[in-house]
Amino acid sequence: MKFFVDTAEVDEIAQLNDLGMCDGVTTNPSLILKSGRDILEVTKEIAGMVAGPVSAEVVALKADDMIAEGRKLAKIADNIAVKVPLTWDGLKTCKVLSEEGTMVNVTLCFSANQALLAAKAGATFISPFIGRLDDINLDGLDVIEEIRTIYDNYGFDTQILAASIRSVNHAKDCAMIGADVMTAPPAIIKKMADHVLTDKGLDAFMKDWAKTGQKIL
Ligand code: G3P
Repeated sequence: MKFFVDTAEVDEIAQLNDLGMCDGVTTNPSLILKSGRDILEVTKEIAGMVAGPVSAEVVALKADDMIAEGRKLAKIADNIAVKVPLTWDGLKTCKVLSEEGTMVNVTLCFSANQALLAAKAGATFISPFIGRLDDINLDGLDVIEEIRTIYDNYGFDTQILAASIRSVNHAKDCAMIGADVMTAPPAIIKKMADHVLTDKGLDAFMKDWAKTGQKIL
């Protein structure tokens, strides 16, 4: 499973990129707001730092305007994926930009049927929001599983990009189901390394090592 980092904070991206834990980056208007940066400037900086796809989201609501925004974003760098919302205007934009050879990430997906439409419109990525489904007492992972089945049934090559990941269990479950990519905040990716028994075991090894009086270096 590929890891995309869901942030527009360049320092956090750089850290994970250095560790080989960043196969791409996703941003959205809320993350741009949080970064306090200009969208064009920060997207260019991120796209220059990472080799993989960097999603930048359009903000227009009508297809013609979305297409114009998408073309502008796509010009920033070769690894830009234009992010469009799952509306009919977004799907139209997806079809046009995909046919022009631009990667498109269809976002705000909450059902398998929406994901089926995105695949037919030529999306490179579909972004089902797991956490936001869980927030309203639905099961986000069920939707990932349904999309996996439908895409495999018909050989769609749209990649399932599990988004709105809120816990390390979300990450593991997406990997078990076979999501192609997950996009998670840096804090969740870092937390995946934590285990209380690792800490306890390391502590015991350090105490015993000190008693040996030895040094390696
Ligand atoms: O990639 C989408 C993600 O940023 C949404 O996450 O936690 O705001 O639902 P969240």
